[in-house]
Amino acid sequence: MAFGPGRLAALGIVLTVLVLGADKLGLLWERPRPPAPPAAAVPVPVPAPATVAAPPPAAAATGYVRDSADVPENLPEGGHREEIFWFCTACHSSELIRRQGMSRDRWDEVLTVMTDRHGMPPLEGTERDKYLDYLATALPPRRRGYENPFLRRQ
Ligand code: HEC
Repeated sequence: MAFGPGRLAALGIVLTVLVLGADKLGLLWERPRPPAPPAAAVPVPVPAPATVAAPPPAAAATGYVRDSADVPENLPEGGHREEIFWFCTACHSSELIRRQGMSRDRWDEVLTVMTDRHGMPPLEGTERDKYLDYLATALPPRRRGYENPFLRRQ
């Protein structure tokens, strides 16, 4: 029986597979082991969790978000803040409100939308004025970056 080139090639492939397989399994020679990780030194003391959060910085006049707590103090100061906070947050976070900055007219539209679309009890007359006075003063339109002088609002 002669070893033709085909058989030789097949034999070569089989040997290669065997050798590579044995190598992969670590049967052929000892591999250098990775150095052991250094023993943990003195245990690091875990800092005690802060129990009292630092008080938020004084209110900025424009009422930008100071932290995410949903409390009246996180709305800008102003008349009737507490009452307005509790009235509006019956349905949603005050964050929805304090992220806004709008003119009185736009706030007026918001109140209309809250009533017409979301079922807020309607605010009318002096009551509505009270809300608008607060919202328009505490959360006025903000200027952001570049303003196109031809498109200036109000
Ligand atoms: C009866 C429920 C209800 C009350 C009360 C209410 N809202 Fe809303 N408001 C909603 C709902 C619902 C949305 C839509 C929430 C959403 O998109 O996730 C909303 C959204 C908003 C938004 C975001 C609008 C937008 O286009 O993204 C603003 C601003 C807002 N409310 C302001 C107010 C203010 C100010 C008050 C108090 C005067 C108020 N809401 C009271 C139900 C209410």
